[in-house]
Amino acid sequence: MRVLITGGAGFIGGHLADRFLREGFQVRILDSLEARVHPCGRPSYVPPAAEFIHGDVTHRDVLLSALRGVDIVSHQAAYQDYMPDFSRFLRVNAVSTALLFELIIGHRLPVKKVIVASSQAVYGEGQYRCIDHGDFQPIPRASRQLKRGEWEVICPSCLSVAQPMPLEERCNNPYNQYAVSKLAQEKTALGLGWLHGIPTVALRYSITQGKRQSLYNHYSGVCRIFCSRALQNLPLVIYEDGHQTRDFVHVDDVVEANMMVLEKDEANGQSFNVGSGSSTTILDYARNVLARIPSLADIDVSNEYRRGDNRHSVSSIKKLMHLGWKPQRPLAVILNDFVEWIESSGGIPARLPDAAAEMRAAGVLLSAEN
Ligand SMILES: NC(=O)c1ccc[n+]([C@@H]2O[C@H](COP(=O)([O-])OP(=O)(O)OC[C@H]3O[C@@H](n4cnc5c(N)ncnc54)[C@H](O)[C@@H]3O)[C@@H](O)[C@H]2O)c1
Repeated sequence: MRVLITGGAGFIGGHLADRFLREGFQVRILDSLEARVHPCGRPSYVPPAAEFIHGDVTHRDVLLSALRGVDIVSHQAAYQDYMPDFSRFLRVNAVSTALLFELIIGHRLPVKKVIVASSQAVYGEGQYRCIDHGDFQPIPRASRQLKRGEWEVICPSCLSVAQPMPLEERCNNPYNQYAVSKLAQEKTALGLGWLHGIPTVALRYSITQGKRQSLYNHYSGVCRIFCSRALQNLPLVIYEDGHQTRDFVHVDDVVEANMMVLEKDEANGQSFNVGSGSSTTILDYARNVLARIPSLADIDVSNEYRRGDNRHSVSSIKKLMHLGWKPQRPLAVILNDFVEWIESSGGIPARLPDAAAEMRAAGVLLSAEN
């Protein structure tokens, strides 16, 4: 069996490549080695046993030749960022998926299964409960509210603080363009897969972490930024008040989820959350980093906020657990693996991009007025 992994030089794709090789698959990688993710070129972890095509998933001829002779497609390539180049999200993430199916169907390629990497981002601001007015899906928090430093999501009927609920697959409500592109990708893949009899699954990853996460990619977020700053004795800067919650899943658990849905026909035609099942505040995350990394750094709650950020995002993982998958590696293991990897690969590079300064300049990172 041959698998094509788009984005196979990336963080998750690279781990998938290793795992597919171990399972005896022939592995082909298609990756454009995006400079924002790979400023030093092709990473050394890309396995030599994999066939490597340097190219763009949005280029028809490149994608067609990458698809020839393939049984399984694992579509991991994506544009991920908070920056305002809106059209690029749809082009890379959604249009590439439509092209993938266009080529498979148009050339009658005998692909047996497609797995697409979706994201928890499709939930937007998520699912909340007001004790008096029931469940609702909020619109993003208003700029006026955030400017006042009022961070929690409020019930639109009574304006009291609402309770975040675990994110369930049946609801989605994306707002930012990355999230919209990921939902478009899912709908394209599941719809065309169903219509043309190509078994297809979409996996909505929560924030995925572990070794090999790009130290340069702005989107790789809190683990990279907090760990690199702690190792340099710089303050860990927290946006909002630090009580926002997230759900962090180990990359090895994400790989297990991919391998399981590959085997299970019951998964076909559906989306599944892949998360840790547990909620962590960003403040607690920072404390965990400082417990793992001996550092003179302290925690700086900045009162800045990212335009369009969600307050609480924690996925329900019941649906995938029902198929037999279970996350095995908690936050302590994530941090340990990441820090060991940084140490074994020569430490933090001397010049890392200043993601906060770039976001501030682009009007994405703003300050509350209190
Ligand atoms: N890491 C996370 O926390 C997370 C969470 C939710 C969803 N996801 C999804 O998982 C997938 C993998 O994410 P990751 O964290 O490994 O990201 P990554 O940035 O490490 O890897 C993505 C890879 O895709 C390649 N790529 C980008 N644009 C391309 C293009 N046009 N053509 C070919 N290759 C291209 C990049 O060079 C990179 O190697 C993505 O689809 C992402 O949206 C990731």
